[in-house]
Amino acid sequence: MKIAVLPGDGIGPEITAQAVKVLNALATKKSLALELQQAPIGGAGYEAAGDPLPDDTLKLAKESEAVLLGAVGDWKYDSLPRDKRPERGLLRIRKELNLFANLRPALLYPELASASTLKPEVVSGLDIMIVRELTGDIYFGQPRGISTLENGEREGVNTMRYSESEIRRIGHVAFQIAMKRNRKVCSVDKANVLETTELWRQVMIEVAKEYPEVELSHMYVDNAAMQLVRAPKQFDVMVTGNIFGDILSDEASMLTGSIGMLPSASLDANNKGMYEPSHGSAPDIAGKDVANPLATILSAAMMMRYTFNDEANADMIENAVKQALAQGYRTADIWTEGTNRVKCSEMGDAVVAAL
Ligand code: IPM
Ligand code: MG
Repeated sequence: MKIAVLPGDGIGPEITAQAVKVLNALATKKSLALELQQAPIGGAGYEAAGDPLPDDTLKLAKESEAVLLGAVGDWKYDSLPRDKRPERGLLRIRKELNLFANLRPALLYPELASASTLKPEVVSGLDIMIVRELTGDIYFGQPRGISTLENGEREGVNTMRYSESEIRRIGHVAFQIAMKRNRKVCSVDKANVLETTELWRQVMIEVAKEYPEVELSHMYVDNAAMQLVRAPKQFDVMVTGNIFGDILSDEASMLTGSIGMLPSASLDANNKGMYEPSHGSAPDIAGKDVANPLATILSAAMMMRYTFNDEANADMIENAVKQALAQGYRTADIWTEGTNRVKCSEMGDAVVAAL
């Protein structure tokens, strides 16, 4: 298993180190041949090579079967030109590797029901899979930029666009995942206002014809944002575009107690994947060993499942996380009265011990 490890910025290195610890423990236990190679990305890439996605990092990622990523970004890079900023490195690697399918599962562990800001009865048993398109939409559409108009006033432009084939391929991913779950897909759009998403809805309806056992529904994104906090258990698989998926997945994460619990997989057409927590680099707590490494550890479990097609090892990591939670270990973000508050590295140790 050839894996590129890209820790990135902020809390990236500390959370990635915990996932690597868990992968190494799993490899020892199950005699897996793991080959881990590390490279800089984001601000770290800029520091090392003047580029948020250095050539060597991209080469390593292309040669590997999977990529484990921490997080990118730090306020200190906010004044750099846009193409040198950490976020651009992340967007470019997604595009270069053609990782169009972003899977973000929002799953509530029963032990964390009281850590959610929502009432336990609203979130208990929650299990949603958000399928976010990741290489199109307003994130990449041209034209874009800030220019000065004739009257001297500045104007900012971004372009929302989706081709039919881009919509179709993410549609298939969503329906195939739904077939393995509760066979419900909710497609989220803004078809009442935006033509791009009117096309999105039409194509989803066409794709659905190939999956007669799956029930397709449609929801406008504003309503979806509201329904996620009103009655989130109505959802099984949600499929949506890049920008709506970015926003709704952050919202969904809080249903699970903390964004520190939400892993993600970004896959190409052949299940090569990049695995990263859905959260950011949290520079305010970087280097303090207090971040929650579970989203990254759970991302490593998704790597076993989706790239290496290894359900048993994925389950093993996920069960170890459940056990660490059942034993009362909590990082600061999910801590509640009566549980055992631990540091990032101690949580990693607890998962390794459970494994
Ligand atoms: C995410 C992040 C990224 C995104 C940022 C860091 C570019 O918010 O993975 O959700 O917007 O996709
Ligand atoms: Mg986001």
